[in-house]
Amino acid sequence: MVLRLARAAGPLNATVAMPGDKSLAHRAALFAALAEGESEVSNFPDSGVTRAMRGALESLGVRSSLEDGVLRIKGNGFRPFPNANAVAYCGNSATTMRLLAGAVAGTGSSAVLDGSEGLRRRPMDRIADPLREMGASIETTDGKAPVRISPSKLNRVSYRLPVASAQVLSCLQIAALGADGESRFTVPGPVRDHTVRMLRAMGADISGDETASTVSPTTASLKPLRGTLPGDASSAAFIFAAAAIVPESRVTVKGVGVNPTRTGFLDIVERMGAKVFCDNEREEMGEPVADVTLEAAPLKGVEISGDLVVRAIDEFPALAAVAAFADGQTIVHDAKELRYKETDRIAAIVRQFAALGVDAEEFPDGFRICGGTLVGGTAAAHGDHRLAMSLALAGLRADVAVEGAEILDESFPGFADMIDGLRMGAG
Ligand code: S3P
Repeated sequence: MVLRLARAAGPLNATVAMPGDKSLAHRAALFAALAEGESEVSNFPDSGVTRAMRGALESLGVRSSLEDGVLRIKGNGFRPFPNANAVAYCGNSATTMRLLAGAVAGTGSSAVLDGSEGLRRRPMDRIADPLREMGASIETTDGKAPVRISPSKLNRVSYRLPVASAQVLSCLQIAALGADGESRFTVPGPVRDHTVRMLRAMGADISGDETASTVSPTTASLKPLRGTLPGDASSAAFIFAAAAIVPESRVTVKGVGVNPTRTGFLDIVERMGAKVFCDNEREEMGEPVADVTLEAAPLKGVEISGDLVVRAIDEFPALAAVAAFADGQTIVHDAKELRYKETDRIAAIVRQFAALGVDAEEFPDGFRICGGTLVGGTAAAHGDHRLAMSLALAGLRADVAVEGAEILDESFPGFADMIDGLRMGAG
């Protein structure tokens, strides 16, 4: 599918709400499957990646239903999944594969985890190596999927992650619930801490923050989940990016997650000159939530590196679109992890924005975008839902066609409609 957003004829001005957060939805579905009793979670998003988690759980023998945004799952408890040796197909979702691997190993289950061609290219040795150190019996295919896990007893571990990855950390924290003693993990950067927050709320003995945590084995059963998922901060980034690049816009996203490990994008666009306001701050399911407004203002290029990269790790495609309309250069370093996402995001961002005329340059660990150089044209999504949305946003200011845009259904099926709603003042 080729997506062409119409150019903005005037400011975007609207109030919208986002579907539930994907990172939280993955955890909610998986942890509900490991709980004792029935969980009920509202604002659960229905997209390719959440269907992947639900489908994989169903292959393992845990069914769920999703009606009017309410997910219901009767948990199997923290014990082997009902279907031994099942092939759990994880689609395009690395979060599904990596978190599920921790659950399969931790509960002493057996399964083969497989996925799409794109997912088969992504590194799985980053979870297999530490799981093996914990005593898991796990085989990869040259460090990638398919991943085969057989039952074995896990031992406690003290492990420092070589990369700042929430998926790897979460995989190990879940596995550690089934180990023979207290495990400790440290991470070289502030990764999202949703797993600790949610498991703790379910009664697990897990503590720590975004860089260090301690997990004790489950002695009591995990309590079922009840609540409403916060709006997706990563999808909201595209709505805020749209508001930032169309002069005089003002857009509010109600009930969006503002966990500090996920707000790097807002911090960066504020540094670039946009005005950001938070109202009605509250908590949903142990996560900070707020109504966030972005008001457009003249943008300038900035330099981004260090911990800020980790706190904005999914938002570099959206940031590239904003940078393309800023005054001066935006330079990103310390972001080598972007090469291991849905596609090599450093190479893909640079090549595809260059295809639209942007003066862009690739570094081993980042990129440079020179604002004000975009002329328009045709670019390709590279099988990456976020790149598809980011390139499409450039269409608000120039004639842009994005090939392969159907991939955005993986994460944000209502994207184009929501952007059109902003023009008409939705809310
Ligand atoms: C996620 C963690 C991040 C992020 C991904 C979702 C999660 O991946 O990019 O979209 O839900 O834990 P890494 O842990 O590989 O950085």
